[in-house]
Amino acid sequence: MEKQEIRTFGRRHGKKLSTRQQWLLDNLLPTLLPKNESESELNILEIGFGAGEHLRELAENNPNRIVIGAEPFINGVASLLSAITDETNSVRPEYKNIRIFADDVRDFLRNSDSKFEQIWILHPDPWPKAKHEKRRLLHAEFIKNLSNHLTGNGEIIIGTDHWEYYDWIIEELKKTNLKVQTPDLPTIETRYQHKNKAGTTHPKYLVIKN
Ligand SMILES: C[S@@+](CC[C@H](N)C(=O)[O-])C[C@H]1O[C@@H](n2cnc3c(N)ncnc32)[C@H](O)[C@@H]1O
Repeated sequence: MEKQEIRTFGRRHGKKLSTRQQWLLDNLLPTLLPKNESESELNILEIGFGAGEHLRELAENNPNRIVIGAEPFINGVASLLSAITDETNSVRPEYKNIRIFADDVRDFLRNSDSKFEQIWILHPDPWPKAKHEKRRLLHAEFIKNLSNHLTGNGEIIIGTDHWEYYDWIIEELKKTNLKVQTPDLPTIETRYQHKNKAGTTHPKYLVIKN
């Protein structure tokens, strides 16, 4: 039997969806599944996009890239679908390059040989209680696996306002041969960043390369 993976995310469903959102999930989402985009294409991946503000920004700023988002929280996926469509429920032109995997990114990566120029992870769930630490996504083994999905110059960009998790990730990275930078980036605004649950003054960022 295959080893059961530890669940790294919280709830999958939140408040009841609107009729429009449910329609978009049933009818539009299946048309936006990532295909096994060929290696020659220039792709960007965002893991745990929440409500998708940053994913939309990536799509707008990179019209020649396919931008794939993975997120198991269905209300977040529904918010993104609402935001990228017009009143006829068609995808707006600036968001035609978005693809969505509405589930655990590890299931997506297991079945994909796609390479990415950028892999973004903003505010990964910090699981602050010691008994939940094993649920943290960004342990060494996972990051090493992610690095196999980078193009030659590709980079993984991580941002978190939870400074203890940040330090923990840096310790995990010492178990790998990956190159790590800790740049002082301007704050990237997302819904979770605005909540500032960690109560820190700013998010910290990491850039990882092969
Ligand atoms: C704290 S929220 C941050 C959301 C968003 N990036 C933001 O900054 O507003 C973390 C998100 O990561 C998602 N997540 C956790 N584990 C995941 C996994 N294995 N694959 C994809 N997404 C995951 C959760 O569902 C959640 O929406």
